Amino acid sequence: MANDAALAKDPAAADAASLASARAAIKGLGETLKTQLVAAIEAGGPVAAVDVCHTIAPQIAKDQSRAHGVSIARTALRVRNTANAPDAFERRVLEDFVRQIEAGADPTKLEYAETVRDNGENVFRYMKAIPTAAEPCLTCHGSNLEPVLKAEILRLYPNDQATGFAPGSLRGAFTVKQKLE
Ligand code: HEC
Repeated sequence: MANDAALAKDPAAADAASLASARAAIKGLGETLKTQLVAAIEAGGPVAAVDVCHTIAPQIAKDQSRAHGVSIARTALRVRNTANAPDAFERRVLEDFVRQIEAGADPTKLEYAETVRDNGENVFRYMKAIPTAAEPCLTCHGSNLEPVLKAEILRLYPNDQATGFAPGSLRGAFTVKQKLE
């Protein structure tokens, strides 16, 4: 028992390491996605890029999760892929991000970290806001989608809710989970 106590991790130090992993995973996912998205639009136009998003976005998230020892995904209050729907914790943080943006906060700077108890385990959770940029986001998440593009999106995502966003508004967030020992 005494040994266990001596070996117990400093929770603050654990959080600092988790935070670094979370930020690295988000950087990896965000940058890879953006590069691939822009390349796909240039190569084949937005309709072709939808298929790229559809197959590569979940794959890159999986790769980055493995590389950084965390679980990373994207979520939003209004989702395109229902697999990205927020849990109760994520919904609360997203709603708080919206309130902060409405109060004048810079959406590129919003983040939130908390260690929670989940099924008897300590889980580090971290979220970082994803603002809507005019280019290229509005092509596929704005109010005036080209009819062919809209049809392709609805073919893949019949329950799509992720249109009608304005530049500078909250599109969603990166969300990271890591089980702590
Ligand atoms: C070529 C069309 C296209 C463009 C451009 C695009 N997206 Fe998406 N977006 C999609 C598709 C398709 C999905 C669903 C991906 C999936 O299945 O996980 C998606 C999903 C998302 C999600 C995950 C939550 C959800 O709604 O399922 C976020 C966050 C997101 N996009 C943000 C952005 C941002 C920010 C930009 C601009 C930098 C952008 N997107 C540009 C097509 C696009």
